[in-house]
Amino acid sequence: MKRVITYGTFDLLHYGHINLLRRAKALGDYLVVGLSTDEFNWNEKQKKCYFSYEQRKALLESIRYVDLVIPEENWDQKRTDVHEYHIDTFVIGDDWKGHFDFLEEEGCEVVYLSRTPEISTSKIKEDLH
Ligand code: CTP
Repeated sequence: MKRVITYGTFDLLHYGHINLLRRAKALGDYLVVGLSTDEFNWNEKQKKCYFSYEQRKALLESIRYVDLVIPEENWDQKRTDVHEYHIDTFVIGDDWKGHFDFLEEEGCEVVYLSRTPEISTSKIKEDLH
């Protein structure tokens, strides 16, 4: 069984997220999502989520491509998560290109997928504002 992991905030879930999750799952058999907690978003990314962690988690768990949702609470946990969850492939959108290449040192393949154009949580918030 090939196990894949991705990380993100996934607030106001949109089709760009779904495209990412579908392609991530297609790289293996089991997809883990490290979902940024509200505290991590606020303290480290200065992002205030519209939906709470629990609400975002419930939405992700209802998606057919997602097998497990775990909390992302700090920047360093990726190195240990890949071992704890027996991950073969780390995947994330190419807005993060190059940032997580160090996971190859942990024996994990690192893949950056092209983002879906023109949609983002920030854009939804701006447009509705
Ligand atoms: N993503 C994507 N295509 C988009 C938007 C997001 O592939 N149009 C991917 C990101 O690259 C990341 C994952 O979805 O791997 C979660 O991204 P997240 O930052 O939660 O979503 P954004 O819409 O980019 O949110 P924000 O505008 O707050 O940065």
